[in-house]
Amino acid sequence: MENTAEIINKTIRGRRSIFPPSYIQKEIPVEIIETILENANYAPTHRLTEPWRFMVFRGDSRQKLAHFFMERYKSITAPEAFSQARYEAAGEKVMKSDCVIVINMEVHTDKVPEWEEVAAVACAVQNMWLTATAHDIGAYWSSPGVLDLLGEYLELPENQKCLGMFFMGYHQAPETAARRTPIENKVIWA
Ligand SMILES: Cc1cc2nc3c(=O)[nH]c(=O)nc-3n(C[C@H](O)[C@H](O)[C@H](O)COP(=O)(O)O)c2cc1C
Repeated sequence: MENTAEIINKTIRGRRSIFPPSYIQKEIPVEIIETILENANYAPTHRLTEPWRFMVFRGDSRQKLAHFFMERYKSITAPEAFSQARYEAAGEKVMKSDCVIVINMEVHTDKVPEWEEVAAVACAVQNMWLTATAHDIGAYWSSPGVLDLLGEYLELPENQKCLGMFFMGYHQAPETAARRTPIENKVIWA
C-alpha cells in the first residue's frame, strides 16, 4: 500500500491539463464538486483574506456561460464573415464540460497587496485540480483574454476580478507525462 508521501507525489506529478474535447458525457456527482470546492477553501491565505470566490455552472446554467462566448464571437465578427457554425462552436467548450467553475478573486488592498491575493487563489485552484485528479476528473484552468468582460457579464461586485474558468469533466484522454525541464536548472543551493 502506498503511504501518504507516495500518494501526494503521484497525484502532483500525474496531474495534467485535460481539455473539453476529451471529456465524456458523465455527470460529476454534486458531492465531488462540493469536495473540490471545500478543498479550495483550505488554500494558504496571508492575513486570512480568503480571496477565492467561485461561480459554479452545471446543467442548464452552462447555457448562460456558453452564451457569453457565442455573443462575444458575434460582436467581434463582421456581419458578412459571420458563420452560424462558428457561433455555436464558440460555446462548445463550456457545453462539453460537465461543470465549469468561474474563478474570481476578492481584493482587500487595505490588508495585502493584490499579488498575494492572486497567489492565494492560485493555491486554491491547485487544490481543486489535485482533488479533481484524485477523482479521475479531467480539468484545466482557462484564462482567455476576455476575463474582464466576463466579469462584467456575470455582474461581479466592484471588489472582485475574474481570473479564469476551471473546466471539468470525466474524460478519455490517454495518460501523458508532464513536459518540464529539470528542477536542477531552476534552483541554486546557496
Ligand atoms: C494561471 C493559468 C492559466 C492557464 N490558462 C490556460 C489557457 O487559457 N489555455 C490553455 O490551454 N491552458 C491554460 N493553462 C494550462 C497550461 O497550459 C498547462 O498547465 C501547461 O500546458 C502545463 O500542462 P499540465 O497542466 O498538463 O502540466 C493555464 C494554467 C495556469 C496555471
